[in-house]
Amino acid sequence: MSRTKLMVGSCFALVLGLLAWGCAGKAGTATPFSATKGEHPAAWIQSHWAEYVKSPDQCRGCHGSTSNPAQAGGIAKVSCFECHTNGGVIHPTGWADPAQHGRLGAQLAPSANATAMAGFAHCAKCHGSTYDNGFATSCKACHTKAPHPDKPWNGSVRNHSATNFNNAPECFKCHAAGANSTLKPLTVPPAGTVPGCFNNTMCHAL
Ligand code: HEC
Ligand code: HEC
Ligand code: HEC
Ligand code: HEC
Ligand code: HEC
Repeated sequence: MSRTKLMVGSCFALVLGLLAWGCAGKAGTATPFSATKGEHPAAWIQSHWAEYVKSPDQCRGCHGSTSNPAQAGGIAKVSCFECHTNGGVIHPTGWADPAQHGRLGAQLAPSANATAMAGFAHCAKCHGSTYDNGFATSCKACHTKAPHPDKPWNGSVRNHSATNFNNAPECFKCHAAGANSTLKPLTVPPAGTVPGCFNNTMCHAL
C-alpha cells in the first residue's frame, strides 16, 4: 500500500471513530504522549484526569468513547471503563441537585479512594483551592458568596451540621477564628491547633 493510501486509510478510520461518538474535536494535539515510544509519560496515571477535564475531546481520538463502553478503547486499545465504572463521566445527571452534590458529595467524609466524589477537598481538585479558581465551574457561579448556601445554612433541609467532621481543614480555610461567621470563639486556641468544629479553632467551643 502506498504511503498516501495508508494515510488516507488511517484518517478515514479516525473520522469514522469521531463520527461514532458524535464528536468533531481535534485529537491528540496537546496530550503528553511520545509518538516514538507510543506511550504517555511516566506518572501519567496520576495526572491524566487534569488534561481530560481541561479538554475531553483530546482523549477520544485515541481512546474512543468516554461515555459508551461499547465504543470505548479506540486505537489505543485502552478503555476508560477498564478503571472507571462511569468512564469519563465526571458528574452523573442530577448532580446540580443540592441533595446530590451537597449532602451526598461535598459533605461526605473524605475518602482514601482518589476517584470517590466525596468531601470538600475532593471538589477542590477541579473546582479550585478556593472553589472559584479551578478549571471546572466556580462553586460561586451559583452560590455567589461561599462554596455552600448563604448564611445561616442552618435550615431544616439544608444544614451545615450534616457535614462530616473530617472536612474541617477545608472549612478552616475561610472560617479560622470565626472568620465569615456570626458565631465566633470566645477564646482563640494556640496557633497550630488542629482545626475542628468544636475546639474554638473556628466557630464553636466544646
Ligand atoms: C495519540 C494517542 C493518544 C492520545 C491522544 C491519548 N492517549 Fe492515552 N494512551 C494511548 C496509548 C497508546 C496507551 C497505552 C500505552 C501507555 O500506557 O502509555 C494509552 C494509555 C492511557 C492510560 C493508561 C496508562 C496506564 O498506566 O495504564 C490512561 C489513563 C490514558 N491513556 C489516558 C488518556 C487521557 C485522559 C487522554 C486525554 C487527555 C489520553 N490518554 C490521550 C494513546 C493516547
Ligand atoms: C489503568 C487505570 C485507568 C485508566 C485506563 C483510566 N483511568 Fe482515570 N483514573 C485512574 C486513577 C488511579 C485515578 C486517580 C488519580 C489520582 O488522582 O491520583 C483516575 C482519575 C480520573 C479522573 C478524576 C476523577 C476524580 O473524581 O478525581 C478522571 C476524570 C479520569 N480519571 C478520567 C479518565 C478517562 C477519561 C480515561 C480514559 C481516556 C481514564 N480516566 C482512564 C485510573 C485510570
Ligand atoms: C475531576 C474533576 C472534578 C471533580 C473532582 C469535581 N468536579 Fe464538579 N465539575 C467538574 C466539571 C468539569 C464540571 C462542568 C460540567 C460537567 O462536566 O459536569 C463540573 C460541574 C459541577 C457542578 C455543576 C453541575 C451542573 O449540572 O451545572 C456542580 C454542582 C459540581 N461540579 C459540584 C462538585 C462537587 C460538590 C464536587 C466534590 C464532591 C465536585 N464537583 C468535584 C469537574 C469536577
Ligand atoms: C449549578 C448551580 C450550583 C453549583 C455550580 C454549585 N452548587 Fe451547591 N447548591 C446549589 C443549590 C441551588 C443549592 C441549595 C441552595 C440553598 O439552599 O441555598 C446548593 C447546596 C449546596 C450545599 C448544601 C447542601 C445541604 O443539604 O445542606 C453544599 C454543601 C453545596 N451546595 C456545595 C457546593 C460546592 C462545594 C460546589 C462547587 C464544587 C457547588 N455547591 C456548586 C447549586 C449549585
Ligand atoms: C472558600 C471559603 C469558604 C469555605 C471553604 C467554607 N465557607 Fe462557610 N462561609 C463562607 C462565607 C464567605 C460565608 C458567609 C456567607 C454569607 O454571607 O451568606 C460562610 C458562611 C458559613 C456559615 C453561616 C455562618 C453564619 O454566620 O450564619 C456556616 C454555618 C458555614 N459557612 C459553614 C461552613 C462549613 C461547615 C464549611 C466546611 C465544610 C465551610 N463553611 C467552608 C466561606 C466559606
